Amino acid sequence: MATLATSTGAEHAAILGLGAYRPRRVVPNSEVVDAIESSDEWIQQRSGIKTRGFAEDDETVTMMSVAASKQALEDAGIAPEQIDCVLVATVSHLLQTPSAATMIAHELGTNGGAAFDLSAACAGFCHGLSLAADMVRGGSSRHVLVIGVERLSDITSPKDRGTAFIFADGAGAVVVGPSDVPGISPVVWGSDGEHYDFIRQNHDWRDVIASEDPQMPHLIMEGRSVFRWAAFEMAKVAQEALDRAGITADELDVFVPHQANMRITDAMARSMKLPDTVRIARDIAEQGNTSAASVPLALERMVAEGEARSGDTALLIAFGAGLAYAAQVVIVP
Ligand code: UT7
Repeated sequence: MATLATSTGAEHAAILGLGAYRPRRVVPNSEVVDAIESSDEWIQQRSGIKTRGFAEDDETVTMMSVAASKQALEDAGIAPEQIDCVLVATVSHLLQTPSAATMIAHELGTNGGAAFDLSAACAGFCHGLSLAADMVRGGSSRHVLVIGVERLSDITSPKDRGTAFIFADGAGAVVVGPSDVPGISPVVWGSDGEHYDFIRQNHDWRDVIASEDPQMPHLIMEGRSVFRWAAFEMAKVAQEALDRAGITADELDVFVPHQANMRITDAMARSMKLPDTVRIARDIAEQGNTSAASVPLALERMVAEGEARSGDTALLIAFGAGLAYAAQVVIVP
């Protein structure tokens, strides 16, 4: 039997740069309440959302991704040609194939490196980050661009009471590359397929085509069940991520959970007994729940507003449809 060559990469991987794109159109609760018989007060009380960004026609998945990526590349001081792999976490690129990643890589000018999409819904960005760190350390890529992007307004019904006020659009991106010290901790990730149907597209394409009145499929969610799962189970996963990173909550500077619901964030922080010194991402108030884009968007806001600084330790956790989840501790670039 022949002995095959193997690859080894950098000893450590880290986030080298961060970027974001927020849609121009900022939509207050007052614009979504009539179609779902709701109120600004109810939405703020139940979710913490005041406004969200809805993309306009030209703010496509590709356009938002390219804008966020350019910022991340600039922040990292890395040229597009140095990117060996573009990894796009999304559930709202509306072509089954080709991937969004190949087009985004082309527009950025990455010169033909690997490019593919990853479907893990709201948990997609943290999945991508983990893969990127392993790729850099395993030697398949030196620099990986990880993008979380959604245009959920395309696949959300404005009349669906359980989702219309929550989901939103945007993109966040990071460059992952080699580092002298560990910058991305081991991931804690998993899935709970028993609850496969808690958040889902209401019809598959064959049902839509067979229907007498074909409608664009949209997301539906068993909100209360997802809430309970997220508030109780995800705090345990977040704690496990701290343990695997080898740090205690006292050594944590920043907590950036998926921006699913402000009450879930508060419940997790309480249950983990995070000290008051830990600064907590609350991007959902302005941005809504942007699924795969929410963690990088929330981190970017904290950096832009001076709440997170270079060198800080940040606990990231993302969770959603599948049900799927992933968490890790990173050093803020
Ligand atoms: O991103 C992926 C992961 N997603 C999440 O983590 C989301 C998890 N779920 C949630 O965030 C929450 O379940 C929601 C914000 C979606 C809903 O909040 P809730 O506190 O779970 O509301 P609920 O569904 O338990 O409904 C409470 C009440 C009900 O009335 P009664 O039965 O108490 O009289 C609903 O009929 O609120 C009513 N209601 C509404 N009222 C005004 C439900 N939806 C609405 C609405 N506006 N849009």
